Amino acid sequence: MVQPRESFGSRLGFIMAAVGSAVGLGNMWRFSYLTAENGGAAFVLLYIGFTLLIGLPVLLAELALGRGAQRSPIAALVHYGGSGWGWRGAMFVACGFLSLSYYSVIAGWTIRYAVESLTLGFPSDPEAHFAAISTGGAAIAWHLVFMLVSVTIVLVGVHKGIERVALVLMPLLFVVVCGIAIYAATLDGAGAGYTYYLTADFSGMFSFSVVSDAASQAFFSLSLGMGAMLTYASYLSEEHHLPDESLVIAMTDFAVAFIAGLAVFPLIFALGLSEAVGESTVGALFITLPKAFSEMGPAGSVLAPVFFMALAVAALTSAISLLEVVVAAAIDSLGWTRTRAALVGGAVITALGVGPALDLRVLDWMDKIAGNLLLVAGGLALAVFVGWVMQSPMGEVARGAEGVRWLFLWRWLLRVPVPLVLAAVLYASIAALF
Ligand code: PHE
Repeated sequence: MVQPRESFGSRLGFIMAAVGSAVGLGNMWRFSYLTAENGGAAFVLLYIGFTLLIGLPVLLAELALGRGAQRSPIAALVHYGGSGWGWRGAMFVACGFLSLSYYSVIAGWTIRYAVESLTLGFPSDPEAHFAAISTGGAAIAWHLVFMLVSVTIVLVGVHKGIERVALVLMPLLFVVVCGIAIYAATLDGAGAGYTYYLTADFSGMFSFSVVSDAASQAFFSLSLGMGAMLTYASYLSEEHHLPDESLVIAMTDFAVAFIAGLAVFPLIFALGLSEAVGESTVGALFITLPKAFSEMGPAGSVLAPVFFMALAVAALTSAISLLEVVVAAAIDSLGWTRTRAALVGGAVITALGVGPALDLRVLDWMDKIAGNLLLVAGGLALAVFVGWVMQSPMGEVARGAEGVRWLFLWRWLLRVPVPLVLAAVLYASIAALF
């Protein structure tokens, strides 16, 4: 039996859910880490460029495709492109399985850190502590906790679950991130953090690896290339002004990433822990920051749980969008109920997460395959699909957004420059991987 399609209750509700998907671990650690590694402000400029010229057009493409088809990825591509496109949608769903299974392991660490810093305080050697908890039975247990929460929210539904959670948690997250950034500015030595974060070094800016890092970060951070935004948009009606909404989503996502950097670097530099920043992608967040918090005294014991809770919240609202891709596909393409889809999908992802929870190399590898390859390849496919295959994409965007004059420019970007750039980035990522 076909069930009536669910929908978001309000414009703000959709925007918060989409921003919730976009704002995640990618903003809180991937962005600041990559910025510091790749030339500070120069990288930020490059990232803004990619967000505007590549991210925004693809975001609008996903929204148009999802809303137009009123279906999740597999069924949406089949709807506009014929059954030959079904396998491409299936790749999005596969990417959802893969991404959430390791994302949830990292998210599990953040909940554990939040709980520990609230109760026991951080142990004196954060490095050894991280080594002890990041893999093995403990990591599996917290991954399970995180998956249980995600499955519960998705099970409740789009409006009552996903939208409500985003409406409550996202504003809270903004306040907390801004609050920490303001507090960090008052610390002695914060200046060195800003200098490290924001001094432009243009020398390496045009190396292939920096450019491809900036492009794939723009994609990862906006949750593009795997049908998450497409799936959320399939719950929209025609009153939505997609161009305006995509701009709000992209700008908010950037703002949170930028402000998170303004919080993280001064904290680390004020305590003289700067050598530790570049140690590893997770190092700054799970080793250096706990060090900073525990050296801060009483302020640190308040900041630490707040910071790690904020991280867990950011991860949660992203995770539910990943899970929704899988769940919506099972509902639309297999005719399952939401309950069955959420339980079975959640169980499979939880099982897949055991691999990365046992071995950090597996986690790293999954992040590279999903983040650097599959998302970029997915974005390339989406640009080509909406640019060349989908009928009347501009007509779809114009519903609810009459009078927007630059839609032809959007279509042209999707047809030529975006695929060319993404193909080059994909080539660079594949070359870097092997
Ligand atoms: N955008 C999320 C982040 O920044 C990650 C994500 C990617 C979520 C793809 C959903 C889909 O952490």
